[in-house]
Amino acid sequence: MSIWNDLARHQRATETRHIRELFADTARAAQFAVQAGEMVLDYSKTNIDEDGRALLVRLAEEAGLVEKRAAMFGGAQINETEGRAVLHIAQRAGDDAVIACAGADVMPELRAIRARAYGFAEDVRAGRFQGQGGRITDVVNIGIGGSDLGPAMATLALAPYHDGPRVHYVSNVDGAHIADTLKGLTPETTLVIVASKTFTTIETMTNARTARDWMAAKVADPGAQFAAVSTALDKTAEFGIAPERVFGFADWVGGRYSVWGPIGLSLMIAIGAEGFDGFLAGGRAMDAHFMDAPLDQNMPVLLALVGIWHNQLCGHATRAVLPYDQRLARLPAYLQQLEMESNGKRVGMDGRDLDRQSGPIVWGEPGTNGQHAFYQLIHQGTRIVPCEFLLAAKGHEPELAHQHRLLAANCLAQSEALMRGRSLEEARALMAAKGLEGAELDRQARHRVFPGNRPSTTLVYPQLTPFVLGQIIALYEHRVFVEGVVLGINSFDQWGVELGKELASALGPVLDGADASDKDPSTQALVAFLRAYQG
Ligand code: F6P
Repeated sequence: MSIWNDLARHQRATETRHIRELFADTARAAQFAVQAGEMVLDYSKTNIDEDGRALLVRLAEEAGLVEKRAAMFGGAQINETEGRAVLHIAQRAGDDAVIACAGADVMPELRAIRARAYGFAEDVRAGRFQGQGGRITDVVNIGIGGSDLGPAMATLALAPYHDGPRVHYVSNVDGAHIADTLKGLTPETTLVIVASKTFTTIETMTNARTARDWMAAKVADPGAQFAAVSTALDKTAEFGIAPERVFGFADWVGGRYSVWGPIGLSLMIAIGAEGFDGFLAGGRAMDAHFMDAPLDQNMPVLLALVGIWHNQLCGHATRAVLPYDQRLARLPAYLQQLEMESNGKRVGMDGRDLDRQSGPIVWGEPGTNGQHAFYQLIHQGTRIVPCEFLLAAKGHEPELAHQHRLLAANCLAQSEALMRGRSLEEARALMAAKGLEGAELDRQARHRVFPGNRPSTTLVYPQLTPFVLGQIIALYEHRVFVEGVVLGINSFDQWGVELGKELASALGPVLDGADASDKDPSTQALVAFLRAYQG
């Protein structure tokens, strides 16, 4: 497509320019920032100029973004490889919304399920729902992938709003995870939520059975202290969970987009229905912005296009997500699933190989911890890692406001240092001031040069409230959607996780002693090692 060629030409023509030079335009900071509600995304510390942005916006237009966005919100079957609509936005839609899917309004049923889930959450919080030992003190959510990462990330993020029972998350099939989690808990006052869209996922079902056995050792009717969240109501019944504690959702809600509905039950119990409503309202506000704002002032669209610029055009394979917000510690892991399971695909919607890279590798850690671990490479390594900083104007600890200022100063310092760098002359002056001279001065100075010109974006928001968290998550969901549209990918299937699952089912019996001769020599040798130690 010629727009890709135009963009590639523009990228080549500007790649030797230093981002610093762009700030000769004093209006740049304002012109390369976008606001949604009270949240601002600054993307001025990138090498994108006005022409580049115009080309990127044209790219989105030519990819049919406006039409595809309308198709998603309109309930069309845009998940073509699974023949499904994509309507996670319905889960956070307002009370008067009407959203049609296959000719029927999905909202009455969604509202009914939400009301039931809220009712149950409030019963648990108020002690109206009890375990054998009385009031529920602990909730264990058993799920994996989208049935874990969303609620786990959000529960940590909203810790200041917790006023319900303690909430724990178990995901890994490694018995260590459930053993360590259950160790401190009392079965008689614990509620277990089994969260699985399919109710077949081996990790979740194995952990659910382990939890049931643990409960059964102390509780006469363990099933009474279980709830389930799933689309497979026949399977939840088979597991023995009474229908009044089963919360369903439709198959047009993808696992990694499901935190807004009953999969968020553990979060509802932690923060209550009112807090959860705030979270939904934030998501809804971002939906409205995504639908209504012009593309060149549209936060999810611009965030996606900045990503496309860095990954597909500049060739930077990874993207670091760096929340300067300790309670967003699980955000990078959450985004790894959201972004990489959605856009990590080598075949386009048309069934042909992509002729450019798929979505980026996403990773990260909260600041300031990351600074003392991997920032060295980000500042001085040979590869460029576009960085995405997140920062609240204030924390939730007024008595520690001085620590928040220090946190903020570190965040701003990092993006400034990445962009500006330190020249050889500046480094030489530093060494000279320390009394070095001659060849030793030169040698030492070179180690202290920061090339700079390393791009970053910074998302700032007033405070990490339920509303703001909702805005942030919806922002990333829509960003992934826009990237998928531009790349011609179906962002809503995940066939790439299937093969490993199938092979794992076959390898279980092999580890128990079944014939391994059809396995490759490496796998056979590893099996032999494990068998030798397992006895
Ligand atoms: O990893 C594959 C996947 O299907 C994810 O998309 C999903 O979030 C996760 O497994 C868990 O699936 P389920 O909710 O059906 O247990």
